[in-house]
Amino acid sequence: MQVYRSVRSLAKKVSEIKKRNKTIGLVPTMGFLHEGHASLVRKAKKDTDCVIVSIFVNPAQFGPKEDFKKYPRDLKRDLDICKKEDADIIFVPEAKDMYPDDYSTHVSVEGITEKLCGASRPGHFRGVTTVVTKLFNIAMPDIAYFGQKDAQQAIVIKKMAEDLNMDVDIKVMPIVREKDGLAMSSRNVYLSSSERVQAASLYKALRLAKRLFDQGEKNSGKIISKMKEVIGKEPDAKIDYIFIVDIKELKAIKKISGMALAAVAARVGNTRLIDNIILRQRPRIGRF
Ligand code: PAJ
Repeated sequence: MQVYRSVRSLAKKVSEIKKRNKTIGLVPTMGFLHEGHASLVRKAKKDTDCVIVSIFVNPAQFGPKEDFKKYPRDLKRDLDICKKEDADIIFVPEAKDMYPDDYSTHVSVEGITEKLCGASRPGHFRGVTTVVTKLFNIAMPDIAYFGQKDAQQAIVIKKMAEDLNMDVDIKVMPIVREKDGLAMSSRNVYLSSSERVQAASLYKALRLAKRLFDQGEKNSGKIISKMKEVIGKEPDAKIDYIFIVDIKELKAIKKISGMALAAVAARVGNTRLIDNIILRQRPRIGRF
């Protein structure tokens, strides 16, 4: 495993790999790695010859009042996890290298970035698409791996890659959860022990949504109000949004037919958590 700390040194290495006709898998992260990140690395190892994990807390995707400064960081631990997963290359650039003082170019996907998390985090997705474009250009991956945990992010990145004819395959992998169902997240360390218990209510609400849907409830409004009841029981949880949307344009769906994404964002104490679940109509075999 090799660690590269500058854009120039990684770019040089990537051109060597390309000359040898090896495929590259990229796993972009902001570090403080957990089993969710590790699952992406494992998939990349299966699919490609050379796996690059980037670790970069991207200042461009944090709002002025957000947690950029206190975002958890532990490079030594991250490198241990990458080593255990047999990642080939770790890219840990400096912010100055990614965004020099005269930096002035951004990538923006319109429309879908204004919904869900985009509504409460203006500019967030512009920061994500900009850094991911830069990482694609530096690492030149054949396949890049993202988690369904950040479903809107994955949808935005797919749209960007398609719209800009980027020569990269985007793979979206399932959400890895704690035992009680809480989606793993680097931000979970912010939670106090009582908040940690309450945080499980997001997944409880999503599971309820799936159960109601599977039992035949197709009215989004009814499902959402039941979900609100579940999270509303927790004294320190404050819902930012609950939406049931289509998975392409993220438009709210009133009556679900086929497939939909139920997505939730809530603050538990001061920590903003997100989670989601796919609602999918099962084929009715043997019925008329
Ligand atoms: P980060 O939050 O570190 O997440 C890196 C990748 O891991 C993302 O694709 C995210 O969806 C995935 N991931 C996080 N938690 C997961 C879980 N519980 N199960 C499965 N996958 C999970 O997302 C970012 O960083 C940044 O926005 C980034 C794309 C790196 C751009 O800066």
